[in-house]
Amino acid sequence: MLFEEIVFLRFHFSRKKIFKNDKFCYQIFYKKDDFIFIIIGSSGFIGKNLYQEIKKTGFNVSGTFNNNPSNTIEPNDQIYLDIKDNNFDKIGDLKNIKYAILCHGITNINTCKSDNQLSYFINVFQTIKLLSFLKQLGITPIYLSTNMVYDGKTMFPTEKTKPAPILEYGKQKLIVENFIEKNFQKYLICRLTKVFGVEINDQTICTSWFNKLINNQKISATDNVVIAPIYVLDLVQILLSLIDNNCSGIFHISGQQYLSVYKFACFFVKTLNFNFSLIQKLPIEHFDFIEPYPKYNSLDYQKLQKTIKINFTSYEECFFKILQNYKEANKSQLNNFATL
Ligand SMILES: NC(=O)c1ccc[n+]([C@@H]2O[C@H](COP(=O)([O-])OP(=O)(O)OC[C@H]3O[C@@H](n4cnc5c(N)ncnc54)[C@H](OP(=O)(O)O)[C@@H]3O)[C@@H](O)[C@H]2O)c1
Repeated sequence: MLFEEIVFLRFHFSRKKIFKNDKFCYQIFYKKDDFIFIIIGSSGFIGKNLYQEIKKTGFNVSGTFNNNPSNTIEPNDQIYLDIKDNNFDKIGDLKNIKYAILCHGITNINTCKSDNQLSYFINVFQTIKLLSFLKQLGITPIYLSTNMVYDGKTMFPTEKTKPAPILEYGKQKLIVENFIEKNFQKYLICRLTKVFGVEINDQTICTSWFNKLINNQKISATDNVVIAPIYVLDLVQILLSLIDNNCSGIFHISGQQYLSVYKFACFFVKTLNFNFSLIQKLPIEHFDFIEPYPKYNSLDYQKLQKTIKINFTSYEECFFKILQNYKEANKSQLNNFATL
């Protein structure tokens, strides 16, 4: 059955130009059954954002949680899943699902190493089992991987650069990547650099800094690790655009700027008018990582640029969104900071 809806994302279906509010725009007709998503790990940081954006477009989407059911996901769209159990058929009726976006796993790099048996079981062994299950159902996997499949010695590895992970986390990701490449004809493996958000309690890099700075506490930032942070909603738009364009293969997804964590912190502090003396510059060795941290956490993303159009949100805009979110939550307190 055909439904009609205007969406802002450019999805594949028949479309025609219509005249609306004195402007031409596209009216898109799509088969609702065509784009049905399940997000494995929709209670996590990226999963939650993906769910909300997909939902806004009107497509059917459901997602799984393990320990943390999410209050931003509609109860009917949430399914309990512990990937350690083998009962994937309990995920529900997956026969109409076209895409499974895999956002689950043990994502803390220290825990991957310190609890190696459990992390390997979840991130590799059971993930591969889940992928085999999805394959039987003809579901296309979209796997969120990481720049940490590289050793961090080269600044801009391309998709053709041979991976050589030094962290347990990256090693586990690479095993799953290899499985997908070998076993699926159509898939997306998206290697991401550091992803950040702007919701005050999302526990990502900038909001964590903000929560400390606003309480006049020091933040620590290293000057010997380079990152290329990407805003989570930019990432979500890129993922949806890759799906929309029917892409398959490995793609690097990176923020548009690369800089040391320390420089990023300085940029943040300057933009929001905090006090520079609150930034403590420290070598990476000072932080409690149990494996040597890769120096360069940036990726070459020219393949992505050639494939889809990317509109990055500027870092300043993201920083101001954090301030705005904070202001909305604490209306009276914030008169001394940068004006919005
Ligand atoms: N965030 C980044 O900067 C970044 C960068 C590169 C790559 N990535 C990759 O992107 C993906 C999403 O990252 P994220 O930051 O959104 O991760 P996250 O916030 O840590 O979320 C992890 C998700 O995995 C679920 N999960 C954990 N153990 C599970 C289990 N035993 N069974 C089923 N589900 C389980 C969690 O569910 P509950 O919370 O309900 O327990 C949660 O939904 C990950 O694969 C990560 O490696 C992220």
